Amino acid sequence: MPKQSNIIAPSILSADFSKLGEEVREVLSAGAEWIHFDVMDNHFVPNLTIGPMVCQSLRKSGIDCPIDVHLMVEPVDDLIKMFADAGATSITFHPEASINTEKSIQLIKDLGCKPGLVLNPDVSLKTLKPYLEELYMVLLMSVFPGFGGQEFIPETIPKIASLRKIIDEKQEDIRLEVDGGIKESNIFDVASAGADTFVAGSAIFNKSSYVDAIKDLKDNFN
Ligand code: DX5
Ligand code: ZN
Repeated sequence: MPKQSNIIAPSILSADFSKLGEEVREVLSAGAEWIHFDVMDNHFVPNLTIGPMVCQSLRKSGIDCPIDVHLMVEPVDDLIKMFADAGATSITFHPEASINTEKSIQLIKDLGCKPGLVLNPDVSLKTLKPYLEELYMVLLMSVFPGFGGQEFIPETIPKIASLRKIIDEKQEDIRLEVDGGIKESNIFDVASAGADTFVAGSAIFNKSSYVDAIKDLKDNFN
């Protein structure tokens, strides 16, 4: 399977929540393809963020791009249902947060969304093995989840390359997404290792021009 087209997915965790709709519209018109929606429960991760009502109100306000929901919650199934109802496009979860990973993947599919698994930096690629054929996407964390603005963990690069190899060998049509600390200075290495979907929070929302920020990221794809 050839590598799929590159996608920039701004993480709204770093957006100004007092004007979220405006922020989302602005990054989309600046060239972002998806919106990355970080859901934290103050239990699976220490932080607490946004839930399905926010996703639904973005949809109601006319946001029609793919919404990539990253669940950092435990357990996952109830929120999978709520986010599917709220208009999520893809839903990714951490396998250690699910009571039954296979059933949670099937639930996402049955509800008409695209399933993904997320691996923390210390979780082995072997974890994916029983599920790979069922997945639309694998998300590799390049920071420990919980907060935006952390430093990219360099050991993620060989992990991306290994996963790329596995996906290519299996000839599976699976997106390889990377999340955490991605910026202009490292996106070339992340893309070269084989990622095709790039989450970026602070590297976009902390800049004064989202057009320039997204252009700077895209200019560094290989
Ligand atoms: C981390 C989140 C990420 C993060 C990305 O827990 O899953 O999506 O907000 O933000 P940056 O790009 O600032 O690391
Ligand atoms: Zn995320």
